[in-house]
Amino acid sequence: MATIFSGIKPTGVVTLGNYLGAMKQFVDLQDDNNAYYCIVDLHSITVQLDRVELMNNTRKLAALYLASGLDPEKATIFVQSEVKAHAQLGWMLTCIAGMGELGRMTQYKDKSQGSENVGAGLFVYPTLMASDILLYNTELVPVGDDQKQHIELTRDLAERFNKRYYETFTIPEPLIQKEGARIMSLTNPVKKMSKSDTNAKGYISMLDEPNVIRKKIKSAVTDSSGVISFDRENKPGISNLLEIYSLSTGTPIDDLVKQYENSNYGTFKQDVAEAVVALLEPIQARYHELIDSPELDEILDAGRAKAEAVANKNLAKIEKAMGLSRKRAKVKK
Ligand code: AQP
Repeated sequence: MATIFSGIKPTGVVTLGNYLGAMKQFVDLQDDNNAYYCIVDLHSITVQLDRVELMNNTRKLAALYLASGLDPEKATIFVQSEVKAHAQLGWMLTCIAGMGELGRMTQYKDKSQGSENVGAGLFVYPTLMASDILLYNTELVPVGDDQKQHIELTRDLAERFNKRYYETFTIPEPLIQKEGARIMSLTNPVKKMSKSDTNAKGYISMLDEPNVIRKKIKSAVTDSSGVISFDRENKPGISNLLEIYSLSTGTPIDDLVKQYENSNYGTFKQDVAEAVVALLEPIQARYHELIDSPELDEILDAGRAKAEAVANKNLAKIEKAMGLSRKRAKVKK
């Protein structure tokens, strides 16, 4: 049994990429572990977002967590901004992070590109992410491949802290699955699928209607060879659809390639779309039952209380290690 922490930003409605790369794993891992799953809303404000949209996205994400199979009896599900220790530790870790290492984060580089007014929050985002993870003595962090660099930074910060003060933090490991680690955009299959993509055709939202899903997959960018085979480099579009199909149905990619040996892209795309519709239908039905229910608030209240108890206890230990106390020090004057 390991302590697990992971979260998703409510910057938009979660995509099939978030689900296949992260949420699906969250569900599998909740059974035998001590899991914390967070809606990391403080990370969402690193980019400009309409306040009403953010509030709605937060609630939608909570409902989608549950509709996808997260069970509050097994995992602690909560909203990050409700547990104040995250922001506090975020500041403390920002003070031990270096400008150079933060500037090297590829997500920061990608998102700040070309922008004259880059928010400082975007720059220090990884230290807040490190605080989310380290606050719970996390051992494993299930994430998509794009977050690997942030977990490495988290490990570096934890090790630096332990050395500079004394052994305080558990050093976490990323948990990245082989398949689904990077679902790509439908319009540009060399770029990852993202919920904040300005072109909605690039992603499948977990709440897209069946006909919207069918249309998006039908118009997904592929290639002109007409051969259905898995080759990420030379056939990124078809490979991405094969991966989506495989993860949606549990059929190995090799079996799908054989099955569609003599088929065309049109038939293949239709079948991929139906597989995604079938995957999302029960999740969407449960989502609609939950979204306006008091049950959702009760679950998030209980999650906050559970997370807060652990976070506050650990924060007190971390503050002590850093010397954030007015107690008379015994060793050095
Ligand atoms: N395309 C993807 N394929 C596989 N996994 C993915 N994840 C995100 N996109 C894909 C994984 O989902 C988890 C939550 O991500 P996040 O919302 O906290 O941040 P993100 O990685 O920046 O996700 P988005 O959708 O791209 O958000 P925006 O557009 O706001 O930046 C993480 O585990 C991530 O790896």
